[in-house]
Amino acid sequence: MADEPRIFSGIQATGRKTLGNYSGGFRQYAATQEQGDGFFCIVDLHSITVEYDPRDFHESTLDVAALLFATGLDAERSTIFAQSHVTAHAEAAWLLSAVTSYGQLGRMTQFKEKADAHEFVSAGLFTYPVLMAGDILLYRTDIVPIGDDQRQHLELTRDIAERFNYRYGETFTIPQGVFPEVGGRVMDLQEPAKKMSTTLSTEQGAVYITDESDVIRKKFKTAVTDSEKEIRHDPEAKAGISNLLEIMSVATAEPVAELERRFDGSGYGDFKEAVGEAVVALLAPIQERYRELRADERELQRLLAVGAEKARRASEPTLEAMYERMGFVKAEAGRLFGAARPRGL
Ligand code: TYM
Repeated sequence: MADEPRIFSGIQATGRKTLGNYSGGFRQYAATQEQGDGFFCIVDLHSITVEYDPRDFHESTLDVAALLFATGLDAERSTIFAQSHVTAHAEAAWLLSAVTSYGQLGRMTQFKEKADAHEFVSAGLFTYPVLMAGDILLYRTDIVPIGDDQRQHLELTRDIAERFNYRYGETFTIPQGVFPEVGGRVMDLQEPAKKMSTTLSTEQGAVYITDESDVIRKKFKTAVTDSEKEIRHDPEAKAGISNLLEIMSVATAEPVAELERRFDGSGYGDFKEAVGEAVVALLAPIQERYRELRADERELQRLLAVGAEKARRASEPTLEAMYERMGFVKAEAGRLFGAARPRGL
């Protein structure tokens, strides 16, 4: 519907999805889809910018599709699709690279972190944020639900949109980020100063959405805290406990202040156990739905095909406007090969 806000977000097609992805990603997708016209994209073109195994790619893309539905996205209400199915994304990235500066891309912290972690640094890893800007801008997006780690990429997207609008005339909506109040940056359980990450966390430091319940319990039991006794939210001084409070709040929807009161005087051991149980209770029904959905690959592919068709229709006018405003000659194929073609030619 025209007056509903446009919502767009994306998630990588590779890597085991973590509780961080749940908090900053999945949970917000399901919540925001109620507020407008939602587009949720499995960003498979982004996934090839770091080393990956092409033999697993197909499976992991469908895993993410199943998780998107298992965590509450509704294919009737929203558009769920794979980025590579809509060629406008790759085209938009190229066009927008003309209004993105080299210097800005070099300042992206995610690029610097990932470049440090890999021996082979692809050109795609460097230009990655331009592709992301295209994803968002093609849909004239109003709001982008994301975790804290994507804040800088969204700022760049806004800059790119403004520069394009200034150079070529008003074309893009300037998008706003939507970040969770609590759980916008879920931290690693073993190294609470670092983000819980699909690629950079250790097995013990990250909780995966599809982890078995006993594995989850154990990860929380061994979570790193501090040498005090107080269960208090203070991310500077008490990173581990603060992270656990936020995780519990995400899992139970209880505000952090209430949790502080509830666990006032409890020991860290009991508290960690309670957080583990809350996360098990949160994830168990998701895992069950995930297994059901994942078993029917053809249905998942059908749903993605429906999404791709809707996404193509929604993005096409923006891509056309971009070419036109940038001064490209329109390819009038119809004139040469269509009805106007003289007989005999
Ligand atoms: P990705 O696939 O790394 O992560 C998907 C979502 O999960 C959030 N997230 C977290 N939130 C809280 N705590 C954490 N520890 C944590 N780890 C991940 C991310 O913020 C994200 O919202 N570049 C994007 C994908 C993308 C995109 C887009 C997003 C491509 N195009 C357009 C929005 C709009 C990425 O790599 O997300």
